[in-house]
Formats: sequence, C-alpha cells, structure tokens
Amino acid sequence: MKTVTTITELRAAVSEARTAGKKVGFVPTMGNLHQGHLNLLIKAREISDFVVSSIFVNPLQFNNKDDLERYPRTLAEDQASLEAFGCDLLFAPAEAEVYPNGRESQTFVEVPEISYMYCGASRPGHFRGVSTIVNKLFNLVQPDLAVFGRKDFQQLHVIRRMVDDLSMPVEIIGVETARADSGLALSSRNGYLTTEELAAAPTLYAQLCNMRDQIQAGSKEFAVMIVKANEALEAAGFKRDYIHIVNRNTLQPAADGDSELVILAAAYLGHARLIDNLEFDR
Ligand code: PAF
Repeated sequence: MKTVTTITELRAAVSEARTAGKKVGFVPTMGNLHQGHLNLLIKAREISDFVVSSIFVNPLQFNNKDDLERYPRTLAEDQASLEAFGCDLLFAPAEAEVYPNGRESQTFVEVPEISYMYCGASRPGHFRGVSTIVNKLFNLVQPDLAVFGRKDFQQLHVIRRMVDDLSMPVEIIGVETARADSGLALSSRNGYLTTEELAAAPTLYAQLCNMRDQIQAGSKEFAVMIVKANEALEAAGFKRDYIHIVNRNTLQPAADGDSELVILAAAYLGHARLIDNLEFDR
C-alpha cells in the first residue's frame, strides 16, 4: 500500500490505475479504524480492482471544538490495518492540503432539509461539512464506487441525495453495521467510554430491538414507545438526544401505511455521543 499526502500524488496514482483499466473503489474515513471500517474495505476490495482509502479528520463536520481536538488520531495503526485488508492507496492529507483557502471561507455543498433533521438538528452544520468533504474527495479520487457504513444511516442518505442531485458518476454502496457480541455498534467514539459505561452502552441497541419487536407485533404507539425507550436509556446512565421511527427511504416520520422503516437514535453516555439505528419491515 502506498500512502500519499498531496493531491498531486493522489491524482497521479489513481490515474495510473485507471490507465491500466482498473475499476476504482473508495472508502473515505476519519481514521481510528475498527472492524466496521475494515468491513467497508473488504467490500470495496470484492467489487473493485484498485482500492483507495482516505484518512482525514474533517474539521468542517465538527460543531464542537473539543470533540474535534480529542478525536483519536492513530495513523500508524490505521496504515497497518488498511494494508492488511487490501487497500492499494491511502490519501492522508494535512488540513492545508484539503482547505488551502482556510476552512472558514471554503465553498460548501449542502443537501437541504434532510441535513437539518435528527443528527443535523443536534449538530448544526455537521452534514454540510460531510457533504462538502465527500464531494471534494470524490472530485479528487473520481472513484467508480464508494463504500459507507449503514451505521451512519442519515449520512448515507445525505450522500446518496447529493450524488443524485448533482448527477455524480459514483455508485454508493452501504455496508451493514458491525457490532460487538453485546450488540453495541462499533464506533471510534466507544473509545471514550469507561468500563462501567461500556457495560451500559449495549442498552441503546437493546432498546431499538425492543421497539422493533413491538412494532412488528402490531403496536402503533410510537410516541409511548419512544418515551419508554428514553426512560430505559436514562436509567442505564444515558442522557437523551433523540429517537425517531421513520420511513427508511424518505427519512420522514413513519406514516401508517409505511412498511420499510428505520429507527434512528442518538444518546450521550459519559463523554461519548453514541448513534445507532435499526432497519426492519413491518
Ligand atoms: O463517516 C465518516 O467517517 C465521515 O463522516 C466521512 C464520510 C469520512 C467524511 O469525513
């Protein structure tokens, strides 16, 4: 695996692969890789001939300075993992390479409406930062396909919408959430949890499963279910953020006739903000 830090080197390496007729797959990340990221790599490896990954902790998508500063940076370990899982090229730029005119005056891309709901409401500007960096990375790598985790369900939706609205020639692939045996979704932010908090963290997924079971058994009492799930989370030591039951194709609140649903949830535990979701049919 080759690591490059400049746009010139990145473009030269991708162009060489393209000239050799290779299909280019892309896995953008912010590093601190865990099995969830590596599953994205495995998928990209399966369906493309040349796998590019990026590691860039994108300041534009953090609405909290402390969160940005303490975000784990583990480049050497990440390089070893990417290499072991078949990555061909890693782009690991410094901020000045990505935002040469300064992050404050950077041109941005914003997907309206769905960027302002759920995680977008709790973290204003977050999805504008995500769509801007993903757009920029797509322009740099020009991949045939790009792979994202379904754990960030709303992010995946925003990216698909951006690609669709702007007619970008990139196929977007979503890969299932990787979970610990306890059910806890793998996340770089799990590293902020104490031993006690780690023991409580699986409650989030357990509550989503509980709500799904009730809905599949015929319950339509969504508001009551959400109140009870939030109470159970608080009893386990969480601070509530949101839980919504939505149509998984539109991300609008689930209507009576909707059968393809997803429950989206976020909650704070200690210093971590955990998000999770559960897709199901009723
Ligand atoms: O999901 C992430 O790690 C980030 O939001 C992404 C897509 C790499 C953009 O910075």
